[in-house]
Amino acid sequence: MGELIKINNLSKSFDEIKVLESLNMQVESGEVVAIIGASGSGKSTLVRCIAGLEPVSGGEILLHDTAVVNTASTNGKIGMVFQNFNLFPHYTVGKNITMPLKTILKMSDDLAIAKAKALLDKVHILDKFDQYPNNLSGGQKQRVAIARALALEPEIIIFDEPTSSLDPELAHEVFETISDLAKEGQTMLIVTHQINAIRRFATRIVFLNQGKIEVEGAPDYIFNQVDHPNLHQFLKQVDFEDL
Ligand SMILES: Nc1ncnc2c1ncn2[C@@H]1O[C@H](COP(=O)(O)OP(=O)(O)OP(=O)(O)O)[C@@H](O)[C@H]1O
Ligand SMILES: [Mg+2]
Repeated sequence: MGELIKINNLSKSFDEIKVLESLNMQVESGEVVAIIGASGSGKSTLVRCIAGLEPVSGGEILLHDTAVVNTASTNGKIGMVFQNFNLFPHYTVGKNITMPLKTILKMSDDLAIAKAKALLDKVHILDKFDQYPNNLSGGQKQRVAIARALALEPEIIIFDEPTSSLDPELAHEVFETISDLAKEGQTMLIVTHQINAIRRFATRIVFLNQGKIEVEGAPDYIFNQVDHPNLHQFLKQVDFEDL
């Protein structure tokens, strides 16, 4: 346990447009934090800044007390899973996972293959080891992307709308995988519009509105207790089901 990420007074602008403003946030080891909010509220910008993919305009993001200024400064501690999988189409599923193990961790062929197989088994698609990504369903592709992110043993995995390009039943299987990781204590930050899925296992929900965190707390607080007009307005729009 302990603070993994600490964000102090973060701001981010693109040209003159302020996207994030005076944002403060912490993530502790073992937490599963969901970031929700309307389209354009700055969710992707926030997680891209945390992953070092986007330079900040002001304030700081600390990963174990080290400032994140680019992807190199995250030192492999942050894994990313994107909406569109970002797999290499000309590599087999197996090679998509063994390649970073060999190039980044300098693992031997045998060790990399054994590790890739164990990870594919964990996400229930070991049988796809020799297939190419284009022969997989969207849900299977996303589970390969999750296995690949896990391969480098990051301290935190950031998901940016991991299921928004998937049909509901495929989204469900991806959320099952994410839920299994949550049970194992994997620290995760998940941007999603699929609130009914995330509320089952998120430890904290952060509601972003116009680049600011307006309210955050445990799912029960956010969905059943807090009286917050902007949040209620947003939840009405996203097909949120009351328990
Ligand atoms: N590279 C960029 N250049 C200029 N403006 C950008 C850039 N990236 C994002 N923005 C702007 O920043 C704002 C926040 O975008 P962001 O992608 O973070 O929103 P989001 O909450 O992830 O939305 P969505 O739910 O649609 O994915 C938007 O107004 C967007 O147009
Ligand atoms: Mg986004």
